[in-house]
Amino acid sequence: MLIKVKRGWELPESAATPEDIYLNRRQIVKALGIAPAIAASASVLPAGMAMAVTTDKDPSVRLYPVPRNEKFTLDRPITAESDATSYNNFSEFGSHKQISHAAQQLQIRPWNIIIDGMVEKEFEIGVDDLLKQVKLEERLYRHRCVEAWAMAVPWSGFQMSELVKLAKPLSGAKYIAMQTILASKREMPGLRQFWYPWPYQEGLTMEEANNELAFLVTGMYGKPVRPQNGAPIRLAVPWKYGFKSIKSVIRFTFTDEKPKTFWEALQPAEYGFWANVNPEVDHPRWSQASEWLLGGPQSERVPTQLYNGYTEFVAHIYPPDASDIYFR
Ligand code: MTE
Repeated sequence: MLIKVKRGWELPESAATPEDIYLNRRQIVKALGIAPAIAASASVLPAGMAMAVTTDKDPSVRLYPVPRNEKFTLDRPITAESDATSYNNFSEFGSHKQISHAAQQLQIRPWNIIIDGMVEKEFEIGVDDLLKQVKLEERLYRHRCVEAWAMAVPWSGFQMSELVKLAKPLSGAKYIAMQTILASKREMPGLRQFWYPWPYQEGLTMEEANNELAFLVTGMYGKPVRPQNGAPIRLAVPWKYGFKSIKSVIRFTFTDEKPKTFWEALQPAEYGFWANVNPEVDHPRWSQASEWLLGGPQSERVPTQLYNGYTEFVAHIYPPDASDIYFR
């Protein structure tokens, strides 16, 4: 986000591997039985092999598109796919917006998700097995970053309450802490920013996670979600600032303690646990009264809405007089 850092160590864009090629490399290597550490090296592949298999795809590709749930409507045009997939916040790849190319290095299969903490029985599940157990649908959601840019995206995925049900939490569980994969620094060069409290972590209350708006995203624009947008599974909680929507999640921990989140750990005066969108509560360094739409000029602002326009879904969760629900 808006913490300035040196970026001299980053891979030049030209050095990153295109997505098709890295996905294919992974599958070839798996078929050949080569260890993952060796698989990371391009040099193990016979010349021309990547070329031969570039049509290979994300294994979930045949699941999309999925039926749209018409309940979730927009008051603005859908953001162009090219904008939503090329202007991203994903600090693990760098503290700037042009991380989409670098993010193609992320190995998105196999991808095991750990469900642990206060649950009947802890377990681990592969993302493709999880996808067989849930109802996939498309939802048009607004997204409002705390930096004041916004977009509207056709996400595909499933309601988070389905995951909660599968997890069978104990009655004492009050929160769900979530964690992003901590891959190698080669895959995620942004991890070299050692002053950040990696891994990226976020949290919701059980009530928030069970709210019908809380959505686990596995696809976008009728295709699997792209690595730069949080493949293979990320959160979308559109009534909260974008930093709550954690990407590339590998762990859901049920707990009775309020989770310490990444941005809160880094800058508690600026980023809090609740982070509900509110045009009347400014960020300590800038106004939250308006926003600009990705793809359009930054000078053209539209008013920001309370809970990003999702009041009818979530207002009942929060006490009307709470002064600490936004940033602290
Ligand atoms: N998740 C991880 N793991 N790392 C991040 O840096 N950035 C957050 C959120 N999830 C972030 C993350 C922020 S600040 C925003 S605005 C959204 O991802 C951006 O999502 P997008 O790139 O798909 O638009």
